[in-house]
Amino acid sequence: MLEVERRRTFAIISHPDAGKTTLTEKLLLYGGALHVAGAVKSRKAARHAVSDWMALEKEKGISITSSVLQFDHDGRRFNLLDTPGHADFSEDTYRPLSAVDSAVMLVDVAKGVEPRTLKLFEVCRLRKLPVMTFVNKMDRPGLDPLDLMDQVGTKLNIRTTALNWPVRDDSHTFVGVFDRRSNRVVLFEREMAGTVVASERTFSIDDPALAAAIGAKSLANVREELSLLDAAGDAWDYDAYLRGEVTPFFFGSAMTNAGVPLLLDALGGIAPPPTTTPATEGARLPTDPAFSGFIFKIQANMNPRHRDRIAFLRVASGRFERGMEVIISRTGKTLRLNKPHTFMADERSIVDEALPGDIVGLYDPGELRLGDTLYNGSPVTFRSIPRFAPEHFARVKLRDPTRRKHLQEGLQQLSQEGAIQLFYQEGLGKADPYLGAVGQLQFEVLKYRLEAEYGTRAELEGAPFTAARWIGGAPEGLAWLRSRGDYLLVSDRHDQPVVLASSIWPLNYASSTAPGLELYDVSP
Ligand code: G4P
Repeated sequence: MLEVERRRTFAIISHPDAGKTTLTEKLLLYGGALHVAGAVKSRKAARHAVSDWMALEKEKGISITSSVLQFDHDGRRFNLLDTPGHADFSEDTYRPLSAVDSAVMLVDVAKGVEPRTLKLFEVCRLRKLPVMTFVNKMDRPGLDPLDLMDQVGTKLNIRTTALNWPVRDDSHTFVGVFDRRSNRVVLFEREMAGTVVASERTFSIDDPALAAAIGAKSLANVREELSLLDAAGDAWDYDAYLRGEVTPFFFGSAMTNAGVPLLLDALGGIAPPPTTTPATEGARLPTDPAFSGFIFKIQANMNPRHRDRIAFLRVASGRFERGMEVIISRTGKTLRLNKPHTFMADERSIVDEALPGDIVGLYDPGELRLGDTLYNGSPVTFRSIPRFAPEHFARVKLRDPTRRKHLQEGLQQLSQEGAIQLFYQEGLGKADPYLGAVGQLQFEVLKYRLEAEYGTRAELEGAPFTAARWIGGAPEGLAWLRSRGDYLLVSDRHDQPVVLASSIWPLNYASSTAPGLELYDVSP
């Protein structure tokens, strides 16, 4: 129980350029990383590629490989899961959010809520994840903090509350924060900016030394803002945060370290330890002694010479031990976990033991699928990882018809891995599926991987759709869709009915017209 209590498994969500890499590096520096999976992206230091796939990564300047970082701080053990930050949104970006217990939403003070932040936040909301907000780049000019909180509240439809508040001196330089929980001001030593640990001094708000340090006018300003906050803002409601209904705000600058220790303290202090994973069968508490876990990411063919697949497992309950035998709930088969890795990408090390909240990379002989539950003891099946409605569609045109079998195999495997979604047309069996992606870049990666890993040169042809919805509700709704010529009915990998349309409008029309029809933009 103590080991579960001290764990914090979280992700940082943000729009590219908000400072996620910088913040990650700072958290690691404070924590002293134990394991760094897939080195934190560094634009300046060229990473060496261990596979051709990584060559694509380098060429595109994107990080496809997701990373998992583990570090200790102040008695806590943190697992930080990366939500890969390519230029383009893709399924890899949001899937790690199914394996965390909370998230930090990083917002650039000058830019406010940006599209990617919004999208990732929606995923958090779907899971009712507790989200903290870190307003970054406070060392630069930006939006007024109150306006920013207002913007986040309105755009994301969530209550906001400030747990700390920026303090500026008379020259309007960001010099510290007022910590509303301890009622004290933490001033950062500016000359320390850029070093690993900024030195900090703590004052009570009435301390004359504080007025001397920041100037009387600034102090009066801060006091006024704080009384405004006290009067207008929500009181801190811890339970509402845990339910994902309110997001506490922290202000700082990842680059200068300002506010980073306070954020880390908050993660250790108020972010939740591993929570119960939603299950469709046999729910388990994290402290249940019997092992269970689920696969939230599969990464294939990291090394083209070995054709291996690594499945990322999040431990949900009990103790994971190397060499243990577990049951795959989907097939009932037993699997021995022989070569577990703490992480993967360009470095791997064997792990002997992992506890709830921890992530393990499993060598997968082809038995595992995305979303699989592994367990010991009484049967458990965790709820499947949601898929989002694709917005990009294509069909494959094969250059060399003799490679059809390889193409089929490639598409099947890549869809199991979640790299692409496949939609089958009624009456055509598994032949000639439509491919769907949430981001255009997924298609490029697909083409590249089909060629590099399956020896199949394929062209992708655009398809006249931009929207898809999973179909639910009364059978009359489905019948209504079927009776019309302007909707294409297909089914996904799990034989769930899906409708494809040229735009969102016909779908809205169907929703409001067809009797009992329900359409979902997230897979049921
Ligand atoms: P990302 O992973 O979210 O894409 O963002 P990243 O950390 O790479 O940061 C994007 C840019 O913002 C970088 O500048 C980084 O130095 C800068 N940055 C991050 N945090 C802060 C901050 O607190 N204050 C200020 N002023 N800048 C910040 P760059 O010029 O694109 O790259 P670099 O040359 O600094 O590496």
